[in-house]
Amino acid sequence: MDITEAAITLQRLTKENRILKKKLERSELDCVRSETIRQKKEALLKTVIAEIQDSRAVLEKKSSDLEKAFNELTLMRDKLVEAEKMAALATLVAGIAHEINTPVGTSITLASTLADETKALGTAVAQGQLKRTDFNNYLEIAIESTALLMANLTRAGELIQSFKQVAVDQVILEHRTFSVKDYLEEVVNSLALHFKKTPLTLNVEGDASIHIDSYPGAIAQVATNLVTNSLTHAFQSGTHGHIRFDVAQYQDAVLIEYSDDGCGIPPENLGKIFDPFFTTAYHQGGTGLGLHIVYNLVTQKLHGRIDVQSQVNQGTQFKILLPLSIKP
Ligand SMILES: Nc1ncnc2c1ncn2[C@@H]1O[C@H](COP(=O)(O)OP(=O)(O)OP(=O)(O)O)[C@@H](O)[C@H]1O
Ligand SMILES: [Mg+2]
Repeated sequence: MDITEAAITLQRLTKENRILKKKLERSELDCVRSETIRQKKEALLKTVIAEIQDSRAVLEKKSSDLEKAFNELTLMRDKLVEAEKMAALATLVAGIAHEINTPVGTSITLASTLADETKALGTAVAQGQLKRTDFNNYLEIAIESTALLMANLTRAGELIQSFKQVAVDQVILEHRTFSVKDYLEEVVNSLALHFKKTPLTLNVEGDASIHIDSYPGAIAQVATNLVTNSLTHAFQSGTHGHIRFDVAQYQDAVLIEYSDDGCGIPPENLGKIFDPFFTTAYHQGGTGLGLHIVYNLVTQKLHGRIDVQSQVNQGTQFKILLPLSIKP
């Protein structure tokens, strides 16, 4: 290699060295830059994680608050359901008191008449003034009033017996075999008080020989709620109307058809009537639990089914299908 060649090579090497140096500087700079970016990203990530943790805590608190509120609501609903059941019982008790009042009141009047007559007879005997006609009159009164007393007290006894059964069934939900039609008649009798001053008729029709092995108390509650609803919602006060239970056997089940010919339920409400708290009578003190209880009793306690049909201005009809026998 001559000097000129060596000089050219040196020049080239110097140039390459310069380029490499520049590249090195640039890549060092890139390194610093990407480290800064990494640090920034890490800081951002930490902030995001902290925020997520914060929101998780807030969410957890919210969901525990929600759970608490939900539990409180469930508890409140259960309490209301119980209160509604007690209200149905109170309706029955009021009916019982009223029905028994009539025969007992008549018996008291009869007994006091008999006491007065006996006293008068005693006085006449003591004074030696007893005439045959007086005695015969007394005998007639005594025989008549004791017969009436017997009839009235028997009626009171029967009422107490059937009402006692209805009330006991309601409170302890006893399980037994009974005639559905006869039992509905007892329940309807205890509701008669609410019909006395209305031009409404309430009938129980059908086959009394159909017996079921079930919970009569639950059936009493269902019937009481349906009748109370017809009285409150279906008929304006003073209007004539008919309410009716019809009992029939349907395959291996009993079909209770309940109907009224009142105002009916508009189609937009029909799907909601079994929902808890659905009521169109909020301002009249309705809680909207009556039919919810009916639905629960029929489907859960009585293992049956309930359907509703209604047409505005035609009336409402409930079909309740209950198995003939359920295990306690
Ligand atoms: N026989 C009926 N005729 C017309 N509407 C009825 C009848 N039965 C129920 N309804 C309607 O269904 C709604 C729900 O009835 P539900 O018994 O559940 O509640 P409520 O009677 O309003 O209140 P509560 O029974 O708690 O006092 C009533 O508000 C009413 O609008
Ligand atoms: Mg009701």
